[in-house]
Amino acid sequence: MYSREQTNKLQTTGNQLLKDLKSKPFEKINVDSLRDALRFHEYRYYVLNDPLISDFEYDQLYKALEKIELENPGLVTADSPTQRVAKGLTKEFPQVQHLVPMLSLENSYNAEDLIDFDRKARELTGLDEIEYCIEPKFDGAGISLIYENDLLVRGATRGDGVNGDDITTNIKQIRSIPLSAKFSGQNIRQIEIRGEILINKNNFKKYNEQMAEQNLPPLANPRNAAAGTLRIKDPKIVAERNLEGFLYQISYYSTTQKNQKVFKFHSDTISLLWELGFRSPEKEKKVITGIEKVIGHCKKFEEGRDDLPYEVDGLVIKVNNLELQEKMGMTSHHPRWAIAFKFKARQATSHLKSVEFQVGRTGNITPVAKIDPVPIGGVTVSSISLHNEDFIKEKDIRIGDALLVERAGDVIPYIVKSFPELRKGHEKKIHFPEKCPVCNHPLHKVEGEAAWRCTNYNCEAQSVQRIIHFASKDALDITGLGEAIVNKFYELGWLTTIASVYELPYEKIEKLEGFGKKSVQNLKSAIEKSKTQPLYRLIYGLGIRYVGEATAKTLAQAINHLLELKNFSLEDLQKLEDIGPKVASAIYQFFSNKENVSLLKELEKQGLQLKNEKKELAQGGNLSNLTFLFTGTLPTLKRSEAEAMVEDHGGQILSGVSAKLNYLVVGDDAGSKLDKAKKLNTVKIISEEEFLKMLNR
Ligand code: IVH
Repeated sequence: MYSREQTNKLQTTGNQLLKDLKSKPFEKINVDSLRDALRFHEYRYYVLNDPLISDFEYDQLYKALEKIELENPGLVTADSPTQRVAKGLTKEFPQVQHLVPMLSLENSYNAEDLIDFDRKARELTGLDEIEYCIEPKFDGAGISLIYENDLLVRGATRGDGVNGDDITTNIKQIRSIPLSAKFSGQNIRQIEIRGEILINKNNFKKYNEQMAEQNLPPLANPRNAAAGTLRIKDPKIVAERNLEGFLYQISYYSTTQKNQKVFKFHSDTISLLWELGFRSPEKEKKVITGIEKVIGHCKKFEEGRDDLPYEVDGLVIKVNNLELQEKMGMTSHHPRWAIAFKFKARQATSHLKSVEFQVGRTGNITPVAKIDPVPIGGVTVSSISLHNEDFIKEKDIRIGDALLVERAGDVIPYIVKSFPELRKGHEKKIHFPEKCPVCNHPLHKVEGEAAWRCTNYNCEAQSVQRIIHFASKDALDITGLGEAIVNKFYELGWLTTIASVYELPYEKIEKLEGFGKKSVQNLKSAIEKSKTQPLYRLIYGLGIRYVGEATAKTLAQAINHLLELKNFSLEDLQKLEDIGPKVASAIYQFFSNKENVSLLKELEKQGLQLKNEKKELAQGGNLSNLTFLFTGTLPTLKRSEAEAMVEDHGGQILSGVSAKLNYLVVGDDAGSKLDKAKKLNTVKIISEEEFLKMLNR
């Protein structure tokens, strides 16, 4: 898409613009180059996943363009980066007809199926050997795009294959889909392109973690997540979900010259799409002659399935020569020149044996399904969250029901559906308890929230869960104080509150079965070490409702000592980043409670750090005003550790190599970042050892 020279030029333009925005009046800014720079950086970020400027810098450019266009509406173009943003809600998605029907694919599951497909293909074409183009079968929601005179004019769902829903506004929220592309360079006037909308595994996981915090059901799997999101009527929410678009098939085009054939091979169409800025499977595709080699590739690709950042459910094998494709034709259901090779399913059926109601650390009651154990994708699943009462009702789940269970990749298992049609009559409705299953306190449900709660702060289950959470890896990280041990010590009366962690009777523990001098020594030092953890981990470990790691960090940065939060009003709290009324109120309630305040004082007495030492360090830190970036595998530090060290010492992490970068810390197998940094001349390239020396200076 962008040559090396263009890349350098656009990078320079962007940096110059960032400077100009500060020094020149807006009338002096060239809108076209501003737009070019923004499009270039969007491409680097969303298509290549390799940004060259920070998010902050991008935002500055974007906001400037927005402002200039607002003041000069005449300057707005249809494909301006600002034109993705939609005003208001979508009323409906009108039905539209695809230029060419969207067919399905025939499926294959093993080598024999593929050999059979190849035999038929050879018969139909009269050839001895066929060249195939193989690409991932993206597991998302199918879409169809139309570009006319280089402009994206329509995006539609697959629908019934003939008609789909017009979802153009939502498609524009997907930043890897260009609003314009230079098809005219190939004499193409109108073109229809097929593709798949996905949510990558990482974004999917992040989103579901947020849902779990609120006892809301997660998105079932990346496929449903993408399909569901495309039908949301608020484009803002669509934009927030960070969908990605892969385009893999040109289904129709017309040219300015009559009957001109632009492409000879399918692989050429993939390459052109890539060249024009689309995320086509250019890097993933493979052109192979002969079915035996194709089979070999399929096997190998399936082994690496989990390493991909997005879900694939197989590979698609397409006859590469387009003339041959035409000759082979299609059935009413699928083309004869393509076949899907499906990977092992990640779904299985099982039965619901019983439902347990678990009490979480904030009192939320979570129903958990106990099912007949089934292996799915390499793990045995026997226990699955049912999230909340509404989920059970919506999915019409009863004890004894047959269930369809899915576990996509490393995603937590999920109940896709029940099979009411298979009921035999002995199935029982699930009754949600009215009282806490542990302390018998009546359960409450706040209007608008999904979870029933036990509001008894002294509920045994909550106390135990609070301690487990406090000691967990992301909180105080006390190795040796896991769920089983906490439960045991709680039963023995040695653990009662968080503070009791620091008053354990080690002489007694030593005498317990399974413990010895050595393990007690280890536990002691893990507990000692927890006293030196950064403040945000302590805040997170307190288990305040809705306060996850990110909010804990925000809070820690706002204070010099934890007890200062006592004096924060609801308004003060809401002034902090990403803290809304609900979260603010939970924090406010926590610090208004005298018992909590005395717990914190008690912890301070025990030697925990309530002061924000890191902040003091960072303010006068020896890396302040310096920017860093890491690349390659470092010999001893994890990437996240190294980045945290920079921030702790007052430095800043950049997202890409740019003129703003001071230090690139290089490990093994460093990639393109190193090349870029070398060219820039201004960046100092150092090793991990040199980096560590800088910290100790
Ligand atoms: S080609 C006429 N290529 O899989 C042939 N489809 O199960 C059109 N899919 O409806 C399909 N990745 O939504 C093709 N690389 C790929 C694909 C792909 C995913 C989807 C597509 C199709 C479905 C069939």
